[in-house]
Amino acid sequence: MPSAEDSIHEIALKNRGSLPTPYYLVDENRLLLNLEKIKKVRETSGAKSVLALKCFSTWSVFDLMREYMDGTTSSSLYEARLGREKFGKEVHAYSVGYSDGDVDALRGIATKVIFNSVSQLKRFHPKVKGLPLGLRINPGVSFSDFELADPARPHSRLGAADFDEAMEASSLINGVMFHCQCENDDFARFSSLLDHISEKYGSLLEKMDWVSLGGGIYFTKENYPLDAFCGKLSDFARRFDVQVYLEPGETAVTRSGFLVTEIVDIVRNGADIAVVDAGVEPHLLDSLIYRTNAKMDLPGGGAHTYMVAGRTCLAGDVFGTYAFPGKLSVGDLVVFADAAGYTMVKKNWFNGIQMPSIVVRRLDGKMDVVRRFTYEDYLENLS
Ligand SMILES: Cc1ncc(COP(=O)(O)O)c(C=O)c1O
Repeated sequence: MPSAEDSIHEIALKNRGSLPTPYYLVDENRLLLNLEKIKKVRETSGAKSVLALKCFSTWSVFDLMREYMDGTTSSSLYEARLGREKFGKEVHAYSVGYSDGDVDALRGIATKVIFNSVSQLKRFHPKVKGLPLGLRINPGVSFSDFELADPARPHSRLGAADFDEAMEASSLINGVMFHCQCENDDFARFSSLLDHISEKYGSLLEKMDWVSLGGGIYFTKENYPLDAFCGKLSDFARRFDVQVYLEPGETAVTRSGFLVTEIVDIVRNGADIAVVDAGVEPHLLDSLIYRTNAKMDLPGGGAHTYMVAGRTCLAGDVFGTYAFPGKLSVGDLVVFADAAGYTMVKKNWFNGIQMPSIVVRRLDGKMDVVRRFTYEDYLENLS
C-alpha cells in the first residue's frame, strides 16, 4: 500500500519518463495525516474547520478534503465562487473590501458573509439580508513572526479595532471572526490569546451564535497537544454558547506538497550553484517575500554543499543552500518540500519560464497529472 512514508524523491525518479519537470506534487496520503487531525478536532471539540482557499485552492483534491472539512472560507468573490462550485458544504465569504457588485454576486454563493469593517457592514447588510452575517474583529494582539503578515501591526486595516463601534453594530450580525495568528505552533500562546479574547470581548461574544478563530493555528504539527487544544475550544464554545470555526490553510496542507525540479546547469562563483528549471519568484514566492530557505527533506550529514538557484533573471532567485549526500550533476532531480500552501495560489509567469504542472499522488499511489501549462496559457495570461 502506498503510504505517507514513501520517499517523494524516489517516486519522482521512478516516474521520470512520464512526468516532465517542473511539477508541484500533492500527496494525498500525506494530506490525509492532517485531515485526520482536523476531523479529530471536530469530533472532540465540536469546532468546525473551513479550508482557507487563499492558502490552497488546488481543487483536484477537494473530493478528499470534503470528507474531513466543513467547507471553505474566502478572501474574494472568486474564491467564494470556487468554494461553492468545487468544494460545496459551507461557504464563508470574507473580503477586506467588498464592492457593490461583489456583495450582489455573493447571494446564491455564500452561506455566511463576513465584513471587515463596521462601515462595510452598515453599507451592505441590506443586500444580504437573511444570510448569517459576521464582522471581523481586530483584537490588537497577535502571534506572528513577520510584520508583513501581522494582522495586529500598527494601523492594521484588518478587522474592526474599535470595541464600542463593533458592539453598537452587533444587532446586525450573529457571528464574529478573529484572525490574529500566523503558524502558531505554541499551544500556550494560543491559549493566552483566546483568554484575552474571552475577557475583552465577552459581552459581544455572548450575543453571538458563532465565532471563527481564523487560521494560523498549527495544530496538525507533530506533538501539538491536540487534546488540550480540543478542551480549550470546547470550554470556549460552552462558555459563550457558540459554534466555533477554525479556518486552517497552511495547517490543513502542511508537509503534503512538493516542487519537483531538475538541474539544468551547475556553475561556480565562490560556491557551487545548481540552477534548476523553476524559480523562487514565480513558483515559491513566499520564500522570497519572507526571506526563508525553501524546505528540502535531506538525510543529515550531507558532505556536498550547493546553493540551489532558479532560472529567472532575478539575481536573488535563490531557493537556499543545502548539504546533499552526493555530488550533483545536470539532470538530477531536486525536490523542495512543504510546497502546497501559498505556492500554487501565487504562481506567476515572470520571465515566461515553464509553469510547473500540477500532479496529485492519489491514495492508491496513482500519479494523476491534473494540469499541464503550455505557451498558450502564458499567452492568454496577458493581452
Ligand atoms: C482571515 C484568514 N483566515 C484564515 C487564514 C489562513 O491562515 P493559515 O494559512 O496560516 O492557516 C488567513 C491567512 O492569512 C486569513 O487571513
